[in-house]
Amino acid sequence: MLRDGLIFLSGSRTARRIATHAPGARIMARRFVAGETIDDGVAAVRGINESGMTASLDCLGESVRNRTEAEAAAATYVAVLDRIQRERLDANVSLKLTQMGQDIDDAFLRANLGRVLDRARDADLFVRFDMESSEYTQRTLDFFHRVWDEGHRNIGIVLQSYMRRSEADARAANAIGARVRLCKGAYREPEAVAYQDKADVDRNFVHLMELLLAEGRYPGIATHDEAMIRATRAFAERRGIPSSDFEFQMLYGVRRDLQHQLRRAGYNVRVYVPFGEAWYPYLMRRLAERPANLLFVVKAVLAESPFRFLRRRA
Ligand code: FDA
Repeated sequence: MLRDGLIFLSGSRTARRIATHAPGARIMARRFVAGETIDDGVAAVRGINESGMTASLDCLGESVRNRTEAEAAAATYVAVLDRIQRERLDANVSLKLTQMGQDIDDAFLRANLGRVLDRARDADLFVRFDMESSEYTQRTLDFFHRVWDEGHRNIGIVLQSYMRRSEADARAANAIGARVRLCKGAYREPEAVAYQDKADVDRNFVHLMELLLAEGRYPGIATHDEAMIRATRAFAERRGIPSSDFEFQMLYGVRRDLQHQLRRAGYNVRVYVPFGEAWYPYLMRRLAERPANLLFVVKAVLAESPFRFLRRRA
């Protein structure tokens, strides 16, 4: 119930306007977002690299319907790729097609994203297309396969285990040797397209993980769920799949203990590092995943806001 409410609010423009102007709102976001500038993102990646992990930089933004804004987002990604190359960071980038102009038209999207893809190819860097809500699944995969067929090989997709269709999509990706990030899925979806029960989502996650590890190319297993991580480690051991053939992926600010533990155990770990001003929907999805985070956020806001005396009294 609370999860549904938070996911609903993540898409509300009015709620976004109110929340982003609320006192303490930025402090709230800092729990899950590296900061607002490229420098903030790069500084976070440097720290992550120093602890032996890789990163994926995400310049926050989605649902862009204005060409100038979509072009500015592409320019930011080009600048990020320049920084990764120049500063020899161990990182790639993740982006959302709706940030690049998917809702404007396909020709614009192709041209706008083309600047990012060409820069990535020149720098030999990898670009992950994040997966958004089910309204975009087919279009995102169609677009991915089109760009792949045009010869780009430094790109990858995301599949969500709550989606009933994902097995077919995983097999299609494995067949062409495309890299897949597997996650559970962060949007509110209808029963017709997505499993609703956690047990079904988890069962499908394990099934897809096995398919990707056994037949895919360097999959990213993106989860903080210890049961999913245990299942992945056990399957790899059973099948003799070396830890260099896949990576675990986790979000910035979530289960840092587990990130370091996996790294120490010899696994590749990539941390997804979001930065930028458009943090509102991203933050709401993180709160929806674990409503207990609300408490953390409220405490942080009270500590910094003009109402902090309330906290001292409490
Ligand atoms: P689950 O939600 O079952 O949580 C298991 C445990 O993990 C919780 O009990 C808690 O301990 C911890 N945990 C999970 N989320 C937390 C949070 N926000 N704060 C604190 N603790 C938390 N989704 C999508 O639809 N499209 C995408 O492209 C991506 N991309 C992506 C990249 C990466 C690197 C990750 C890790 C995740 C995504 N996701 C995503 C989000 C994903 O779909 C999912 O919503 C979250 O990862 C939460 O699911 P878990 O697998 O962690 O398990």
